[in-house]
Amino acid sequence: MSRNNRGRREDLSWAVRKDGRALWTINANPRSSVYGESLRKFSGTEYRRWDPSRSKLGAAMIRTKRDPALLLPFEGDTILYLGAGHGTSVSHLHDHLCGQDNHQGGRLVCVDLATRCLRDLTHLAKYRPGLIPVLGDARKFEAWGVLIPRKVKWLFQDVSQAGQVEIFIKAANRFLADGGVGLLSLKAASERWTGDEEAQVFANVEIALEKAGLVVEEGIDLAGFEDNHMLFAVRKPRNI
Ligand SMILES: C[S@@+](CC[C@H](N)C(=O)[O-])C[C@H]1O[C@@H](n2cnc3c(N)ncnc32)[C@H](O)[C@@H]1O
Repeated sequence: MSRNNRGRREDLSWAVRKDGRALWTINANPRSSVYGESLRKFSGTEYRRWDPSRSKLGAAMIRTKRDPALLLPFEGDTILYLGAGHGTSVSHLHDHLCGQDNHQGGRLVCVDLATRCLRDLTHLAKYRPGLIPVLGDARKFEAWGVLIPRKVKWLFQDVSQAGQVEIFIKAANRFLADGGVGLLSLKAASERWTGDEEAQVFANVEIALEKAGLVVEEGIDLAGFEDNHMLFAVRKPRNI
């Protein structure tokens, strides 16, 4: 839930704070930054700056026209993140979902197919219990799906490769609970619809998502932070 706090300062969750146009999360691994982000204390508690130009989720939280808290999972939940990269967004999600020593009891299953990413994620996981790095292909979930025995309420995908929409739809069918939130970060240039204007590409994606039975709640244009990128926020209806 979002609550206004001292003018422009807003707590989006117990751990995520919006201060004007800046985002901060309470550091689950105090005195340590993950990707060179700055650390700062608010009332004696250490926060890490969440850089929206390094994180599409962060950019979407700044750019959304709705309450940014709607883009976050519930703390203590189990979530699935496809295309975790080196852990930039994942680390902030971990701050919110798990907190220090995972006192919130969250589980963040992070899949990436690059071994160099897995090395960084594995290092991160040493200091961040609840973060579960998985070396795997988002398209081949038979290999790692066993780690998600129950459907999740929050799914994020940022794989920046051709066929992103099909991968997302399959993952949502298999792993997203009814009523759950799915976030698809889409890079227009990765899609197969060559020659289409970018706006048409995004419109086609929206049609494909709706056709798959997902409700598109918002398409968030990340231009300025990540050009040619749109983040689609969808919800899986309760009755499909
Ligand atoms: C743009 S980066 C992710 C950045 C990350 N989401 C963040 O915000 O910090 C895209 C990642 O997707 C991974 N990737 C690409 N295709 C994939 C696939 N089929 N399955 C899993 N990961 C994939 C790449 O290795 C790369 O690390």
